[in-house]
Amino acid sequence: MSHRITLVLAAAALFAVFAGSASAQSFEGRKKCSSCHKSQAESWGDTAHAKAMDSLKPNTKAEAKKKAKLDPKKDYTKDKDCVGCHVDGWGKEGGYTVEDPNKFLTGVGCESCHGPGSKYRGIHRKAGAAFEKSKKTSSRQVLADAGQDFSFEESCNACHLNYKGSPWKGAKEPYTPFTPEVDKKYTFNFDKYVKDAKAMHEHYKLDGVFTGEPKFKYHDEFQANAKVGKKAEVED
Ligand code: HEC
Ligand code: HEC
Ligand code: HEC
Ligand code: HEC
Repeated sequence: MSHRITLVLAAAALFAVFAGSASAQSFEGRKKCSSCHKSQAESWGDTAHAKAMDSLKPNTKAEAKKKAKLDPKKDYTKDKDCVGCHVDGWGKEGGYTVEDPNKFLTGVGCESCHGPGSKYRGIHRKAGAAFEKSKKTSSRQVLADAGQDFSFEESCNACHLNYKGSPWKGAKEPYTPFTPEVDKKYTFNFDKYVKDAKAMHEHYKLDGVFTGEPKFKYHDEFQANAKVGKKAEVED
């Protein structure tokens, strides 16, 4: 074999290794996030997202189901046409499955919005510890490279705008039964909805461990109005 071919093969093998590790971000469930971010976790627990699996149980939300031509008596909690948008990481590495229902992936939790946490959560811990020791800040870019989401909109769309005739280009089956055609109140407006702290969680003041871009477009606004909560832990 010529040296050139050997080199090309070696480069391809290396690329495969990097590509493999880049896609290895996996869902882990909200247990760890919640133990460090207690205020957000508590507030999130009161939201419709946290209780999303309950809506799939029989005899819940009967009026809404009837209006969307669903059977209010039916148990939809294992129905693969439903579960995906009412849990974390459906169809993705480490995500919720009907066969092995993990309670920390049940409902629409932290990682559905912030991204699968296997890689970035360790960076939070280290950066928090460094900040506590010497006020050293860390870059958000490193978190983004490890899979943390700072724009949110595409994740929301994948659940809220996933129906036939949706303005969102990525729509594919299974679709949500709750579309603007069923009731105008199901019309999704990202800029309005993302400011609904009753549906995300309340916002709490950060110390500013992470700096720079990519920063969420309403980050400064949220922080300016944020509550004082429990400090994020630096150990897990
Ligand atoms: C070991 C503790 C720990 C774990 C586990 C952890 N974090 Fe953090 N996180 C921190 C610390 C410390 C900060 C910096 C807080 C500050 O600036 O006050 C932080 C910052 C953040 C921020 C703010 C980032 C920004 O833009 O400034 C978000 C959002 C966040 N964490 C979400 C999560 C999510 C979601 C998970 C689970 C996948 C998670 N964290 C796991 C400790 C942790
Ligand atoms: C994994 C799917 C999923 C993702 C991702 C998701 N949602 Fe939701 N959302 C739901 C489901 C399901 C409900 C309804 C929960 C219930 O009542 O059972 C809901 C409810 C809501 C509600 C409450 C609606 C009401 O009638 O009051 C708002 C607001 C909302 N979501 C906004 C957002 C925003 C903004 C994002 C992105 C930052 C987002 N959601 C991400 C699935 C998702
Ligand atoms: C593509 C994602 C998706 C799929 C698939 C999906 N849902 Fe949902 N579901 C949502 C979203 C998003 C909402 C929140 C709608 C809103 O309030 O704007 C929701 C809300 C609901 C609600 C609460 C409605 C209300 O008005 O309170 C029920 C009940 C529900 N879904 C049941 C189901 C059932 C049963 C199935 C399967 C037949 C299903 N969902 C499939 C995304 C989905
Ligand atoms: C429906 C989407 C959604 C869910 C679910 C969600 N978050 Fe958030 N979270 C947001 C948005 C949007 C922000 C604002 C980001 C910013 O200001 O940079 C945010 C901000 C944060 C912050 C920064 C400080 C603050 O309070 O604004 C932390 C920490 C955080 N979330 C942790 C969590 C944890 C832990 C969970 C799960 C228990 C969780 N989040 C669930 C959407 C969500």
